Amino acid sequence: MTQQARARLVLGNWKMHGSLAENELLLAALRAADTNSSSQIGVCVPFPYMAQAAQALQGSAVSWGAQDVSAHEKGAYTGEVSAAMLKDFACRWVLAGHSERRAYHGETDQTVADKARAALQSGLTPVVCVGETLNEHEAGQTLAVIRRQLTPVLALGADAVARMVLAYEPIWAIGSGRSATPEQAQDVHAAIRAELAALGTPQVQVLYGGSVKAANAASLFAMADIDGALVGGAALVAEEFLRIAAA
Ligand code: PGA
Repeated sequence: MTQQARARLVLGNWKMHGSLAENELLLAALRAADTNSSSQIGVCVPFPYMAQAAQALQGSAVSWGAQDVSAHEKGAYTGEVSAAMLKDFACRWVLAGHSERRAYHGETDQTVADKARAALQSGLTPVVCVGETLNEHEAGQTLAVIRRQLTPVLALGADAVARMVLAYEPIWAIGSGRSATPEQAQDVHAAIRAELAALGTPQVQVLYGGSVKAANAASLFAMADIDGALVGGAALVAEEFLRIAAA
């Protein structure tokens, strides 16, 4: 499968940033931008701003999503947000297993797979995030960690995986200003692609995340198995985010 067969996707992860007033400016700038970008664009916003994003972006080339979802369908799960609730706001994407959720909220590999499945059941596209810590990276355990994280996700089966997006985000590169080199990222993406091919789903988009900015996006996107980016800090500045999408 050649890279050309897979569309490029650039998703912003706003994390816990924003306000109604700030978002209004950012969303308007994204909406106003040239939609002839070579990339599909989306933003993953905090839950309270889903309605704002839906209203601001409706009918534009920019899609919207959430940063987390409950693994449960409904019920007595105080504080949780279900996939069906997100679907009510025409949400398209939902991040599953971002490293900050795994590290600070105890999400296990199985929880992440359960969340991906819940998202799919409501017709959302889960963006399943994987990535190794600096210690694991330096110990040469990167591929073993990625495979372990992917195991319960791939166990959902080819039909499910074909409707997902994956994102490789080395934890040491997130918010650190130190991106993986294109070659380092490509090595991991190629290994993920091999797992996907073995399942019969080589066409799944695999994004790279971790200190992506306009200055390094083109060299990352030039790699055969990098299909786009999951962008944190740089997604909060419309001009920078759009330059990444145009790279
Ligand atoms: P960063 O974050 O672009 O700020 O490194 C990426 C992410 O956490 O998704």
